[in-house]
Amino acid sequence: MIDYKTLITQAQAARERSYSPYSHFCVGAALLTKSGKVYLGCNIENAAYSATVCAERTAFFKAVSEGEREFEAIAIVGGREGEICEFCSPCGVCRQVMAEFCNKDFKIILGNENKFEAYTLDKLLPLTFTSENL
Ligand code: THU
Repeated sequence: MIDYKTLITQAQAARERSYSPYSHFCVGAALLTKSGKVYLGCNIENAAYSATVCAERTAFFKAVSEGEREFEAIAIVGGREGEICEFCSPCGVCRQVMAEFCNKDFKIILGNENKFEAYTLDKLLPLTFTSENL
């Protein structure tokens, strides 16, 4: 099992590939599966702004499309071009995507070069709407 610091370093590397010519806000994510594999993602923007996809969803969609269904943790690193902000918290849409594939105890690691904070999905998205509500 890789440690959170390593996962944050991988998210930082993924962030280097961010395509964000409009917001100049660059985000990287490293998604750890229960089997120990890591899928990286960056935000990918679009001139039609709503077509933009966040780093977290890029990582999830890469993993799910490769057959992965069981996830342990995701590390997220973000900030304006050339700098890393304190913590980059996932948007509501990404939290909802996490809820589709992850248990309440899925770990969301917000990090920067010096420190990190770990949350559970349950903490960041309480009273979730899932398939169980249908
Ligand atoms: N963004 C992410 O990729 N992840 C987050 O957690 C927050 C926001 C992206 C979307 C957009 O490309 C840019 O950051 C500014 O919102």
